Amino acid sequence: MSAADKGDTQVVRIGVIGAGNWGKNLVRNFATLPGSKLSYVCDLNEKTRQSMTALYPQATVVDRIDAVLSDPAVDAVVIAVEAPEHYRVAKAALLAGKHTYVEKPLTLRSEEAVELVQLAAQAGRKLMVGHLLEYHPAVNYMKDLIKTGKVGNPLYLYFQRLNLGVVRKAENAWWSLAPHDISVACYLFESEPVSVSATGHAYLQKGIEDVVFANLKFADGRMAQIHVSWLDPHKIRKITLVSSQKMVVLDDMEASEKIRIYDKGAEIRSVDSYSEAITLRTGDILIPKVSTQEPLQLECRHFVDAILTDQPIRSDGADGVRVVRVLEAGSRSLAEGGAPVRLS
Ligand SMILES: NC(=O)c1ccc[n+]([C@@H]2O[C@H](COP(=O)([O-])OP(=O)(O)OC[C@H]3O[C@@H](n4cnc5c(N)ncnc54)[C@H](O)[C@@H]3O)[C@@H](O)[C@H]2O)c1
Repeated sequence: MSAADKGDTQVVRIGVIGAGNWGKNLVRNFATLPGSKLSYVCDLNEKTRQSMTALYPQATVVDRIDAVLSDPAVDAVVIAVEAPEHYRVAKAALLAGKHTYVEKPLTLRSEEAVELVQLAAQAGRKLMVGHLLEYHPAVNYMKDLIKTGKVGNPLYLYFQRLNLGVVRKAENAWWSLAPHDISVACYLFESEPVSVSATGHAYLQKGIEDVVFANLKFADGRMAQIHVSWLDPHKIRKITLVSSQKMVVLDDMEASEKIRIYDKGAEIRSVDSYSEAITLRTGDILIPKVSTQEPLQLECRHFVDAILTDQPIRSDGADGVRVVRVLEAGSRSLAEGGAPVRLS
């Protein structure tokens, strides 16, 4: 039994596996968060290990995951290795009885994701997926606008996640970039799509799409359009929500004014008993004050707090399974030239 389980400490001892481009941000956060102790950093790359040893002398830096998993003093493991390795490393961590945080996507196959959820339940351990945007203050501001009815009935969303690079070799732009947008669409609509259609093209590497346009349909008629690309002149990170009363744009490239609420809409009203007229409304634009806290820090804190207080995880294993299923359906649709693929 780990120290965090026994309740005799307010510290979760953490091992981070994979300290590459993204993992190093996780290491930084877990090294400084209250309630977290960075015990291990594990990476196959020698240069990365050298730099981790210099930056975090408090941590043991190793090249084998067994060294982390076999130490009973480690309560939780954070996995930021390449996506094809997620399943293998996460399974080993759960079998070793560690609370486990896996970067997105949870796995590359939904059967594997389901197995991880079952393993976590059997072991009584937390399983969290790095759906970062569910912790983003601006996304949560948007969610609040929907929940409190301030924007009316949400109709549709569209996402743009575009840039030149980082070009991945093991996965296409859909699997690399869209997990965030899929997770936010489900999070904001509080439901999951019933069908996915996707078209895209592999321009740079055979069989690895650089650009994908996908459409997610929800049972109640809502939809979410996702455009992801690493072959684009613009760096865009935008979410647009069109609701019956207002329209909201989240621009993550803005330093502070990330949300704009447009008092715009269209209404159909009866002119007489035989005819209707469409009226357009354009009012003020509101730029609310939204917290600028780092989403990754909030996400890491959520993981630590959930372990210490035994609370549910927001982006839990079930959320991870849902996103992987949508990714799979999108892949099938891509292979079938954009035909809609139903999700059961
Ligand atoms: N949440 C986000 O916004 C976000 C952003 C970027 C990447 N990611 C995710 O983070 C993960 C890593 O991406 P990256 O860009 O940092 O990749 P990367 O290639 O830069 O880093 C991966 C690291 O894992 C190490 N590694 C691989 N297998 C290992 C093993 N068995 N044991 C120990 N170390 C191992 C590699 O040596 C490398 O340093 C991916 O799953 C990616 O999807 C998430």
